[in-house]
Amino acid sequence: MSKINPLAEALNKDLQDGAPQIFDMLSTRGKSIYFPSKGILGQTAESKGAKINATIGTAFEEDGSPLALECMEAMVNVPSESFLYASSFGVQRLREEWGRLLAVKNPGLQGKTYSLPVVTAALTHALSVSGYMFVDSGDTMILPDLYWDNYDLVFSEAYGAEFSFYNTFSGGGYDVEAFSQALRANRAGKKIVLLNFPNNPTGYTVTEEEAKALTVSIRQAAEEGNQVVVLLDDAYFGLVYEEGIARESLFSHLVDLHPNVLAVKLDGPTKEDYVWGFRVGFMTFGFRGAGDKHLKALENKAAGIVRGNISNVPNLSQSILLKGYTAPEYSAQKKQKYEILSSRARKIRAVLEKHPEYAQSYEIMPFNSGYFMCVKPIGVTAEAVRKELLTNFDTGVIVLSGLIRLAFSSVPTDRIEELFENLHAAIQTLRR
Ligand SMILES: Cc1ncc(COP(=O)(O)O)c(C=O)c1O
Repeated sequence: MSKINPLAEALNKDLQDGAPQIFDMLSTRGKSIYFPSKGILGQTAESKGAKINATIGTAFEEDGSPLALECMEAMVNVPSESFLYASSFGVQRLREEWGRLLAVKNPGLQGKTYSLPVVTAALTHALSVSGYMFVDSGDTMILPDLYWDNYDLVFSEAYGAEFSFYNTFSGGGYDVEAFSQALRANRAGKKIVLLNFPNNPTGYTVTEEEAKALTVSIRQAAEEGNQVVVLLDDAYFGLVYEEGIARESLFSHLVDLHPNVLAVKLDGPTKEDYVWGFRVGFMTFGFRGAGDKHLKALENKAAGIVRGNISNVPNLSQSILLKGYTAPEYSAQKKQKYEILSSRARKIRAVLEKHPEYAQSYEIMPFNSGYFMCVKPIGVTAEAVRKELLTNFDTGVIVLSGLIRLAFSSVPTDRIEELFENLHAAIQTLRR
């Protein structure tokens, strides 16, 4: 390993003092990374307010306001300060607001200790930063066999992770037993778990009971001496449509579960607030016994990775979000949009009830949340159905892991019946 920078050494020392198990969870890169607080950024921060400030590479008008083209400025209703760089940690007020909202959206987090969220360029980047921080080449990651296929690029291709899959469903619910077995297979040591609820591609979120059972299983693994990094991909957080389904992130359960469990919450407004192109996400850390300096060390490492990858996340997007979250209409409008997606999920249930004959063509996989649901075609391949739907029914769907994924998030409610009818007809045609 090349020589460790003294700034990284200082962060590592902070972790080793009281949380050596968390230090051990870091990858080699994670151990080496640091936030360059003494470089351009640190010197710029120290010079803030100086009469003559010739530090960072941004430009200012003669009057000291950000130098911006008026035609660009006229297009956005946010202060021209948002044309300047944001911090590599993210806009401080947005970090604080998201951190506050976490506890509002997850009442179980109230009074618990977790880091200030670090801003990433949306969820994919947050996942990638996690890979940098925790995954060494050859490390095993434990995930369900129905998963978002971009994990292949993010973790396997970029960081050399080996995936250990467990069966996703059993008897119409989450296969918690398979998860437990995968987690406790092999000898005790560092384990990296990736959980995603609501799930892409299935649209499944664990029930309250299953969430508890997953938590028990993770605690047992920790008690047996495993050091468990739990990455929570909460991209579709909040979009739960049925009763008895976990409404809170598993983060609420894991954040103070055991010193050997590091919970890393990856979330953001992309899907939650319907701003796919904004490219803003968050990464929040917590573990039982975490002290301020431990959490700060993790935040510094994450921000150092952001600095070395993309430098910082668009300030414009962050400024718009901050304004949105503090707008009086925000909650009501968000509820309204949730209702649109929720009513589509209800419509799907109604259509399937009305047409029991569709069960001859496809099996409905468990779903209760998110943007998607999956069906398993009977007697024909998913790919053949996809092509048939596109060629003869003017209908586009996705094939993943032998299933057909339907993004009901993008289908108007009055086209849902037709979508399921087309699926049935396409399969019947292929089987003839
Ligand atoms: C499970 C899951 N995680 C992460 C992402 C990526 O989100 P973002 O667009 O914020 O990078 C997606 C997007 O499809 C997703 O389905």
